[in-house]
Amino acid sequence: MKLYFAPMEGITGRVYRQVHHRFFPGIDKYYTPFLSVTRDLKLKGRDKKELDPAENPDIFLVPQFLGNNPEAFRKGIQYAGKLGYSEININLGCPSKTVTAKKKGSGLLDEPELLTRLLDGVFEETELNSSGRSSNPDRKMQISIKTRLGVSDPEEVFSLLEIYNRYPISELTIHPRVRDEGYQGRVHLDYFEECLRRSENPVCYNGDIRTVRDYEQIAEKYPEVHAVMIGRGLVGNPALVREIRGGDSLTAEELKLFHDSILKSFMEAFQGDEYVSIRHMLELWSFMKENFPDSDRLIHKLYKTKRLSEYRAAADRVFCG
Ligand SMILES: Cc1cc2nc3c(=O)[nH]c(=O)nc-3n(C[C@H](O)[C@H](O)[C@H](O)COP(=O)(O)O)c2cc1C
Repeated sequence: MKLYFAPMEGITGRVYRQVHHRFFPGIDKYYTPFLSVTRDLKLKGRDKKELDPAENPDIFLVPQFLGNNPEAFRKGIQYAGKLGYSEININLGCPSKTVTAKKKGSGLLDEPELLTRLLDGVFEETELNSSGRSSNPDRKMQISIKTRLGVSDPEEVFSLLEIYNRYPISELTIHPRVRDEGYQGRVHLDYFEECLRRSENPVCYNGDIRTVRDYEQIAEKYPEVHAVMIGRGLVGNPALVREIRGGDSLTAEELKLFHDSILKSFMEAFQGDEYVSIRHMLELWSFMKENFPDSDRLIHKLYKTKRLSEYRAAADRVFCG
């Protein structure tokens, strides 16, 4: 089974990915958090760094693009191709209102015409037509999609699958919730199962894998799933993939070393800006705190820190219990 680290805006950026890979190698694919592609492809300096191969050594990285303009995607794909990437991922899952209001992310899921136009444009760029025949045998770029079941009703996924099945999508990652559910409530495994039956493209499962047992349940129930993508569970337990593969469990010392290394890397990346580095660390604590169920009070104090010395002292107290 392939195991992927889900894209997470504000968390799985280049700094985090590199440190994660150094401490916990073995992730088959990392994805960038979504990068907005616009018609003029004015990627921000930060986004260019995200994609710079020199900033992402030794990992398989998939740039994730968010947008709805075929021309903008074409330029994004060309840019990624020039940098040597062999796959890009289209974000059709982001539930944020600011994104969906512009008919991007999961805002495209109830816009079949716009979605079709986008996918036509994207697959034309990769020189594959809708029936999947390649007019260019040297074509390298794979197009994968990350989707939800729909906007408000999981039944919507069946008409979405009819659209997806028209294209040679290298991997269709399904997060089995609708947009209105955000990341809460139970995943709709019954719909996921039906998607597996109906999808003509390879399917990757994503959603709520937090423990080895969660993973095993999915792997046992759906042997035809060839890949699983994990987000929050991996940020909470960065060794989860190692554990899934039968390796050692995460230790408190290891988590502390990992934490310290990320903090050091953030300080370097943000040129010594203590406040910004701490804010980035606190994003991680939203998920890492699960390792410290009895330390609510100590973790609360972490969120109050503004100076690096205060933060370090507060984090040490959490790690020491
Ligand atoms: C803070 C946060 C940021 C996220 N950013 C992205 C993103 O940039 N692109 C994307 O496709 N999904 C994003 N997601 C969704 C995750 O990739 C994943 O689909 C979701 O967390 C469910 O998987 P999980 O239960 O394993 O965490 C984000 C989720 C969270 C909680």
